Amino acid sequence: MEIVILPTPAEVGRAAAAKIAHLVARRPEAVLGVATGSSPLAIYAELAARRAAGLDLSRVSAFALDEYVGLPTSHPESYASVIRSTVTEPLGLDPERVHVPDGLAPDIEAACARYEDAIAAAGGVDLQILGIGANGHIGFNEPTSSFRSRTRIKTLAPRTREDNARFFASLDEVPTHCITQGLGTILDARELVLVAQGENKAAAIAAAVEGPVSSMVPGSVLQWHRTATVILDEAAASRLQLADYYRYTFRNKPDFQRWD
Ligand code: GLP
Repeated sequence: MEIVILPTPAEVGRAAAAKIAHLVARRPEAVLGVATGSSPLAIYAELAARRAAGLDLSRVSAFALDEYVGLPTSHPESYASVIRSTVTEPLGLDPERVHVPDGLAPDIEAACARYEDAIAAAGGVDLQILGIGANGHIGFNEPTSSFRSRTRIKTLAPRTREDNARFFASLDEVPTHCITQGLGTILDARELVLVAQGENKAAAIAAAVEGPVSSMVPGSVLQWHRTATVILDEAAASRLQLADYYRYTFRNKPDFQRWD
């Protein structure tokens, strides 16, 4: 796992966007896994700026990590809406190539299976963008999610509902269920890029990066991936024991491995 510590949240976004731009330059039809939440917003803003400067993302496909169950897609907090307004439109993606799990499907299990099939049909995800919840969740894989899980329905942990209540008028309006790509689905992506900013992520990051691999900290599954990069601001990195080593490693990175 590569750990990159940068001074500010904006630099975290710029660095992750540079990695994605590097991929798209090599592979214009790249398949991205896209995350919601506040963490990746700086990435999308930077990609939109690069688009304005000539980066063509029109052939890129995208698969969202998750979606609430039972929220109309027209609801501004449905992930279908959030992905449209933060990813598809600003980045100029083709809406036909942007996929979000169907949280309104009458047969949820069939919808989950279709989502897995669609990812496979697109050739798999080249680069999965991830944030991390304060309880260590990735996507909506809450603690004790199976490492081999696939796209499925999950019950949101009370803490996740409380964390996400800021996007809704009240806690009661936050759905109790979601569809999320599984940890096994996420691990199948060819590359993972997790971003985190702020002190309130420091404990989850320390547990995911340096703690034991445990389903109690779903983000720790990144330790099993061949090509995972974790990009942090100083606050999110503040509880890492080996922070100086990660800085030293990044400073001394061979040129051929650079993407920034
Ligand atoms: C949300 C999403 C995750 C996201 C996480 C953190 O509930 N399902 O994909 O990474 O929680 O969100 P934020 O980046 O806003 O802290």
